Amino acid sequence: MRSSRTATCRPTRAWPGWCSERWAPARSPSTAAPGRREVPTPGWWVCRSVAPVRDRDAGPVSTPARLRSAALPLGVLTVVFLGYALPPYLGLDPARARLPLPDLPWFYPALVLHIACGSVALLTATVQVWPRLRRTHPVVHRTSGRVYLAAVLVGGVAVLGVAPFGLSGGPTAQVANTMLGLLWVLTAVAGHRAARQPRFAAHREWMLRSVALTFSIVANRFWSTVCVLVFAPSVTSGGPVDAAELAQAVGVSTWLSWVVNLLVVEWWLQRTRSPAPRPVRERVGP
Ligand code: HEM
Repeated sequence: MRSSRTATCRPTRAWPGWCSERWAPARSPSTAAPGRREVPTPGWWVCRSVAPVRDRDAGPVSTPARLRSAALPLGVLTVVFLGYALPPYLGLDPARARLPLPDLPWFYPALVLHIACGSVALLTATVQVWPRLRRTHPVVHRTSGRVYLAAVLVGGVAVLGVAPFGLSGGPTAQVANTMLGLLWVLTAVAGHRAARQPRFAAHREWMLRSVALTFSIVANRFWSTVCVLVFAPSVTSGGPVDAAELAQAVGVSTWLSWVVNLLVVEWWLQRTRSPAPRPVRERVGP
């Protein structure tokens, strides 16, 4: 089957395996004519264990080769970030938290739960964007995808107990974090839904948005530094810190952390989104 792949079968490069069997291009029932040469119909997939399933997305996707290995830099970033961010929270001691805690009984437990789920989300997101693993071990991709979804759902709900009440960054950061938490959950749910339908091109797009939001915490470390340098010179001056300046810097960096990530992903999706395939014409006659 795989040898019959043509230009119309390009989705197989992005999503070659979805169940434990391999998906292969198939002909839609309308074009299945006995005795004709096998011509895969765009958007139709067959799995050896089930009946043909229609990928309801019109357009195939393509990923430029030089960017197919984003998993490695993301993995390195994740390990470095977790090595730096997690230790203060491992002992479950509120006094060691890196940020000011409001006097709310649920805040610290919700913060720790969201950090635990966020760590799982970062690690599984790295696994999910590893194209080779997706291709060769589709079952690992599915299992890790479910763990990612569970981590985002639980972590997202926990974040809603933290984000509106955070003390650093004031209302600007509170609104930015609450919106981030909501979009984090919504994009992951939309991606999961698209995979179940199955609409693999839409699944890829929603999941890339979701992963961009997951990695906003890593981007935040970069933007915080930039914004403190730009908006809060009192922090580096050696004198007393101006609290209003610092809150402004934290607020702006919180927005930048996820909005810029989303913009980059949207640009990337525009670049790699292929035009809808032309319908396959049935040959008439011999
Ligand atoms: C994407 C959705 C996320 C949202 C909306 C979010 C929101 C928040 C909020 C509101 C705080 C408290 C900030 C404050 O009170 O000043 C916080 C802290 C924190 N978050 Fe997240 N977060 C998200 C994802 C993640 C992820 C994926 C991780 C990965 C482990 C993570 C790790 C942390 C850590 C370690 C802290 C404590 C801050 C520190 O020690 O520097 N978050 N987050």
